[in-house]
This record gives sequence, C-alpha cells and structure tokens, in this order.
Amino acid sequence: MTTPPPFSTVIRAASRDRHTEAENSAFMGDLLGGRLGVEAFARYTEQLWFVYRALEEGGAALAGDPVAGPFLRPELLRLSALERDLDHLLAPGWRARATALPATARYAARITRLAATWPAGYVAHHYTRYLGDLSGGQLIRDTAEKTWGFRHKGDGVRFYVFEAIANPAAFKRDYRALLDDLPVGEAERGRVVDECGTAFALNTAVFADLAAVFPLPA
Ligand code: HEM
Repeated sequence: MTTPPPFSTVIRAASRDRHTEAENSAFMGDLLGGRLGVEAFARYTEQLWFVYRALEEGGAALAGDPVAGPFLRPELLRLSALERDLDHLLAPGWRARATALPATARYAARITRLAATWPAGYVAHHYTRYLGDLSGGQLIRDTAEKTWGFRHKGDGVRFYVFEAIANPAAFKRDYRALLDDLPVGEAERGRVVDECGTAFALNTAVFADLAAVFPLPA
C-alpha cells in the first residue's frame, strides 16, 4: 500500500491550475507589466483591505479553535500594514470612501461566514492568501517598487513585507506541517481542497472586476 501524499501537497497540486489562472489574469499582467497607473495599484490594495479585514476580524474569534487556531500567527497579520499603505496611496479620509467591488464583497462575506461557521473552510482562505503573500507577493512588491517608485519595503508596499518573519521558507514549511496535521477527516479535507479552489476563483473574480474599472486604452 502506498502512503497518501501530505495534505499540503494535495492542496497545492489541486490549486495549481487555479493559481495559473489568477497569476495570468489580465489585471495582474497589466499591473505587473507596468501598463497601469498607481491608482490601479491603490484600488487593488483597497480591495485587499476588505479581504484582510474579513480574514483578521474573523480570525480573532477563532484563536482558541482546535482546527483554525494554530494557523493564526500574529506574525502574519496584515491589516495595519495595509492601512499604512492606504494612508500613503489614497487621500486622507479614504476609509469613509472605500468601496468593495462586487467580487470583493462576495469574497469578504464568504470569509466572514466561514470564520463563524466552518473553521477548516476558514483555513482554506487563510492558506490561499497568506501563503501566496509569502511567495509570489514578493514579486509583486518588487515590481511595484520599480514601477511606481515606492521606497524599498516602504509605505505603499508594507503589505508585502512580513517584518516579523525572518525566514519565510522555514515559516512556510511549518505552515505546511500544520496543514498536514489538520485535525479533520478525509471527507472534510476534500471540502477544504474545494474551498481553496473557491478562494482562488474569488481572487480571479476580484481581478476581473478591477480589469473592468481599469481597462487598457485600445
Ligand atoms: C502575478 C501574481 C502571482 C505570482 C507571480 C505568484 C507567484 C507564486 C510563486 C512564485 C509561488 C511559489 C511557488 C513555490 O513555492 O514553488 C506562489 C505560491 C503561492 N501562491 Fe502565488 N502568485 C501570484 C498570484 C497568486 C494569487 C492571486 C493567489 C491567491 C490569492 C496566490 C496564491 C498562492 C499560494 C497559496 C501559494 C503557495 C502554494 C503552496 O506552496 O502551497 N498566488 N505564487
């Protein structure tokens, strides 16, 4: 009998196509290709603010949860970095004017609902965002610094800088070990994999909404 692959490997393999789709979305391509202005980057960051508010406010209530609790490491928290970035990217009073695009509202509402009802489903969203930020997010920061002249790891791109994580590779290894040991049965693991697919699809939908707001000139 062969040993089944670790759960972190299963999730990663199952998400591969959805990841490629998100990575290759028109909005991401145009943003990282330097074809969009800084206001598109600002609007994208504003959308992330809604997503991380849902993740981190929802997570606060799960601290003692046996399934989701171990993932909720304070080193990951992004909300205050995002707010500093938005103080820099948007005009004062941005909180009152910030609006979630339709896909962002759906995404944030789903995270909030799962945080309250299904801890392992919340973990799927936690994984999809934070492990991505610790990986490809670094490329986005690099490009944003070069394209719009932000100070290296300074205001505007603090979201991408995990100051409390000295060794991201080691952190990701530990995180994957937590996924491997997720204390839920096979059937629920299957539902977590599906929820990761939904999380990726929601990210792609946010990119599609952003592409409609920031079309490239013909
Ligand atoms: C242009 C955009 C993106 C680029 C360039 C990018 C790039 C990468 C890279 C280089 C990795 C590391 C792969 C490895 O460890 O071998 C990664 C991992 C990951 N990315 Fe992305 N990514 C992008 C967008 C996204 C988006 C939109 C999401 C979802 C919100 C996402 C979620 C993830 C996740 C969850 C992982 C960790 C996979 C794992 O090791 O389990 N990425 N990405």
